[in-house]
Amino acid sequence: MSKQLTIQPSGQQITMQDDQTILDAAMAAGFNMPYGCKNGACGACKGQIISGDVDYPDGYAESALPHMERERGLALYCCAVPKGDITVECREVAATKDIQIKTLPCRVQQIDKISHDVAVLSLKLPTTERMQFLAGQYIDLHTKGGKKRSFSIANAPHESEYLQLHIRCMPGGEFSDYVWNEMKEREIMRFTGPLGSFFLREDSDRPIIFIATGTGFAPIKGILEHAFNKGIQREMILYWGCRSLQDLYMPQLPSDWQQQHPNFTFIPVLSDPQPEDQWQGRTGLVHEAVMDDFNNLSGWQVYACGAPVMVEAAYTHFVSHGLPEGEFFSDAFFSSKDLGKPKA
Ligand SMILES: Cc1cc2nc3c(=O)[nH]c(=O)nc-3n(C[C@H](O)[C@H](O)[C@H](O)COP(=O)(O)OP(=O)(O)OC[C@H]3O[C@@H](n4cnc5c(N)ncnc54)[C@H](O)[C@@H]3O)c2cc1C
Ligand code: FES
Repeated sequence: MSKQLTIQPSGQQITMQDDQTILDAAMAAGFNMPYGCKNGACGACKGQIISGDVDYPDGYAESALPHMERERGLALYCCAVPKGDITVECREVAATKDIQIKTLPCRVQQIDKISHDVAVLSLKLPTTERMQFLAGQYIDLHTKGGKKRSFSIANAPHESEYLQLHIRCMPGGEFSDYVWNEMKEREIMRFTGPLGSFFLREDSDRPIIFIATGTGFAPIKGILEHAFNKGIQREMILYWGCRSLQDLYMPQLPSDWQQQHPNFTFIPVLSDPQPEDQWQGRTGLVHEAVMDDFNNLSGWQVYACGAPVMVEAAYTHFVSHGLPEGEFFSDAFFSSKDLGKPKA
């Protein structure tokens, strides 16, 4: 039995297949919804059901849609399957509308182990296939075992003949272990992308706070390189939180940007500096450093990326410090294990 999905305020109507999620049906019909993990973990796809009811056959993480929010009619569109006709509220993400998501081969051009646990991977794209993407988006790499692992694109689209990824080596991490120990240059891989809604909103003139932990720096690097390339003059501040100095795996680059661009400031924050670091800079949790500096965030736009716990804390605290909810954009780096957690 076919079901009708109506999306407000545009009024677009889509005929859905039985087991399709709202996100899948909308994207297949060319309506670009915002999303992140596509797996019921991050909450980036959350929206209001106006009429109708949904099921969650594969479940979702309670933290992404707390019970109270579900009671208020909110739903995670990436995993909600309507029981019948449904009307939902969602504003289209116009910027990614004309960007095609493709599955492409690529060649590993270079593997640079630039710190004790981060490898920078350069992937060369086929010369016959240009991949259009927005700075900050991510790709899903297909592993040899047939799984998919998400990694953010760390370069900007004006350098589109290759993709740069920053891969943190997780002890026991299937794919990152492979990158660290076995992967060879010139190897051929496949990936699907570009994915996600983490990109610079260029229609705004608000000053920007970027906040990253660990390799959450990767998509922010892409966004900043894009902004510098386009000559965007908005004030931009990067808070980059790591445990100790050895985890700040690319410190020179943002320091150089600060020298070159008067509208950019770099604030590294270490949560557990080691005696040998002789650290004179900021310490503590990175979102707390932002709050120490700003009493009122009502005029700002925030882009947060990295550990889910930081993204969640940043959202909660920044909104309580006046940041409008719609001015917070994030990619939370859920691991495959988080995504496979028992769900509600
Ligand atoms: C949208 C998105 C973008 C991402 N971009 C990046 C990126 O640019 N760079 C990057 O390094 N990661 C990124 N990640 C996280 C990355 O996809 C996961 O860490 C992935 O699970 C790593 O795969 P693996 O096979 O190495 O480890 P897995 O086999 O998936 O995990 C093995 C073990 O390591 C632990 N683990 C894995 N990842 C993490 C983590 N991030 N933090 C704590 N413990 C972990 C797991 O709990 C598990 O115990 C992104 C995630 C998402 C959803
Ligand atoms: S995209 Fe739906 S919860 Fe992450």
